[in-house]
Amino acid sequence: MLTATLLLTLLLGTNASPILTTRQKTPLDYPPRKMAKAFTLVANITDLSKPDLFDAPVNHWYLAGVHVGAGRDAAILRADTPLPGAVFFINGTGQDISSQSTTVAMPPIAGAGGGGTNPPTPQSLQFTKSESDGRIYVGLNFGRGTVGSGIGVGLRDPYARLFSPFGASFIVCHEPNPTVGRPQHAVFGIEYGALVPENCVGMNLLAQCAELPPLAGEEELHIVNEGVGCYEDVKAIDWSKW
Ligand SMILES: *[C@@H]1O[C@H](CO)[C@@H](O)[C@H](O)[C@H]1NC(C)=O
Ligand SMILES: *[C@@H]1O[C@H](CO)[C@@H](O)[C@H](O)[C@H]1NC(C)=O
Repeated sequence: MLTATLLLTLLLGTNASPILTTRQKTPLDYPPRKMAKAFTLVANITDLSKPDLFDAPVNHWYLAGVHVGAGRDAAILRADTPLPGAVFFINGTGQDISSQSTTVAMPPIAGAGGGGTNPPTPQSLQFTKSESDGRIYVGLNFGRGTVGSGIGVGLRDPYARLFSPFGASFIVCHEPNPTVGRPQHAVFGIEYGALVPENCVGMNLLAQCAELPPLAGEEELHIVNEGVGCYEDVKAIDWSKW
């Protein structure tokens, strides 16, 4: 009898707790997103094991570009003073959004010349995988963006975070001897499961809603901006609640 009661207790016990803990999460269980036409990208450091890597903590810094060579800007993190981070928008139709074939664009540069006669120049986020070191280089460059990059939406990704064709994992690195070609606080993508180098930490780049500046050449450049789900203020999110 005792064994039977014990068994029953065990069965009930093992049955009861999983029901409470494995309840399916819904979008309401994640930080709320709003819709906006533009966004900045804010670093949310997920690897808290190297708190002394950077002199000033780079958590909640902004993605920006820094000149690294002729016509090339590499992605770095920057505090929002004295300059704010770069402003981006998603270029793509609703169908592009569903099939993850959008690009991440920046406001085009208006054409110079009398009355804006020269065509506007598009600028975008570009991702290139280096065969030599396996890193994904992130550029803020002239031209069209890399198709297959965007911000996570809906049920596919519960977080409004940047993804590229190589995944959604990013790192920011401490450069002991920064040069023009090797900037401090450089940002790279890494493939799923790749090792994070000693001098770098893992992070997500979260979309924070921003004001869209007027876009030069919206029609000529075939820009379709359906808006994006983003957070009002990334640093105000209390992750212990979600
Ligand atoms: C943001 O960072 C905190 C740690 O500071 C972590 O608990 C949380 O899961 C992160 N969220 C995302 C979406 O990166
Ligand atoms: C925007 O996306 C469309 C395709 O959806 C493409 O034809 C166009 O070149 C893109 N424009 C920019 C500035 O990226």
